Amino acid sequence: MKKICVVGTGYVGLVTAAGLADFGNSVIGVDIDKEKIRILQEGGIPIYEPGLLEVVERNVKAGRLTFTTDIDSAIQNSRVVFSAVGTPPGEGGEADLRAVWIVAATFAKNLNDYKVFINKSTVPVGTGKKTRELILKESGGSETFDVVSNPEFLREGSAVGDFLNPDRVVVGSRSKKAQTIMKDVYHALITRGVPYVETNIESAEIIKYASNAFLAVKITFINEIANLCDIVGGDVNEVAKAMGMDGRISPKFLHAGPGFGGSCFPKDTMALVEIFKENGIKSRVVEAAIEANELQKQGVVSKLKSVMPELKGKTVAILGLAFKPNTDDTRFSPTKVVIPLLEKEGAELQVYDPVAMQDFKRDFPHLNYKNNAYEAIDGADALILMTEWNEFRSLDLKRVRSLLKSPVFIDTRNIYDPRDMKEKGFIFVCTGRTRCAL
Ligand SMILES: NC(=O)c1ccc[n+]([C@@H]2O[C@H](COP(=O)([O-])OP(=O)(O)OC[C@H]3O[C@@H](n4cnc5c(N)ncnc54)[C@H](O)[C@@H]3O)[C@@H](O)[C@H]2O)c1
Repeated sequence: MKKICVVGTGYVGLVTAAGLADFGNSVIGVDIDKEKIRILQEGGIPIYEPGLLEVVERNVKAGRLTFTTDIDSAIQNSRVVFSAVGTPPGEGGEADLRAVWIVAATFAKNLNDYKVFINKSTVPVGTGKKTRELILKESGGSETFDVVSNPEFLREGSAVGDFLNPDRVVVGSRSKKAQTIMKDVYHALITRGVPYVETNIESAEIIKYASNAFLAVKITFINEIANLCDIVGGDVNEVAKAMGMDGRISPKFLHAGPGFGGSCFPKDTMALVEIFKENGIKSRVVEAAIEANELQKQGVVSKLKSVMPELKGKTVAILGLAFKPNTDDTRFSPTKVVIPLLEKEGAELQVYDPVAMQDFKRDFPHLNYKNNAYEAIDGADALILMTEWNEFRSLDLKRVRSLLKSPVFIDTRNIYDPRDMKEKGFIFVCTGRTRCAL
């Protein structure tokens, strides 16, 4: 049983801390956010993530998981220190690593014995090397540590399952001692046959960005195909289904929509472009995906205007604020692009999301937030469905039709069937399937 400290109890850190405790390790979760730690110490969790509370409760009860704001003693008492702090985009799109450097310096200050420092956060290639240099400097030349890159691939909304049953674990380190310790940390997964990939630090750092950028490109590609379908009368669902039957392509991440968002793809694609630039080359593919994705988000408003050209004085209902279902995270949600554009056109908004309204209010406190989907739709001139929450999949369409002032329904997520919606009397626009109902 390894003594582990996880610094940062956000979406990744908290799941990591709970998951590692579930593997039988003794884990202490640390955060500078006193409110988060207070909630955790009182038996709650500060984020919405299905299944997470149960895992946290189980491990707290078993005595394997505790929380503190005292980072110094947490590091001193641990052999293994995971850094899972945020790496948001800086002004130029590059990853802002200030939090990582603070944690690394604090680690150096508390190096009372051999310890492993693990970058769990998504960090640009070269960060592991720089982390090592910083710790060496700050600790006065102590060699009693190793730096490891162990990127995380969990998805919000299914983070617990992803962490407990990952497709692979990637561990980058040149140190045999550190690799042995990491194998011990992930022993429960290794014995279950989860692929465990050992690489050097640089490869591990690149694997994370390459994976996210690849998925972002894949989404963007099918979005462009959807736009073509909308012009020529194809059905992007049929196209994606048949494409996905090709084992080389796979059906995953081939769902057309309003553009990718969230805490990872937007910032990681921007950061990868900067990483290429810093190394004197250019990623034309990733740059193109970022540009196409921006246009895709803006295109939601064009879809509405294609059936309702004048938005001034119109009320638009927005269903879904989170960037995807089953999370309260609204970072880079496409809705954050769509709403200001609608407001610029003079539209009034009535919005609803099952769990993300609180998070959304931080950036958009002035919106008219409603208690449920039907309240948001009531009296609206048009409805835009932005997030495919389950509760939006089975709306009472008769009721929706009667609550709307005019039957305009923009389904950015392709939940509803265009032929059916036309039959029900809606003026219906979706993504890459609209004209196939004509
Ligand atoms: N969210 C995801 O789905 C996801 C998936 C894979 C990888 N990642 C990566 O994981 C990292 C963390 O992402 P997140 O979504 O969990 O971020 P987050 O913002 O939810 O959590 C970061 C936490 O770190 C804490 N923190 C910041 N500085 C600190 C310090 N000096 N000491 C202690 N705590 C500190 C913050 O208070 C916060 O609670 C990022 O690099 C991200 O790219 C995220």
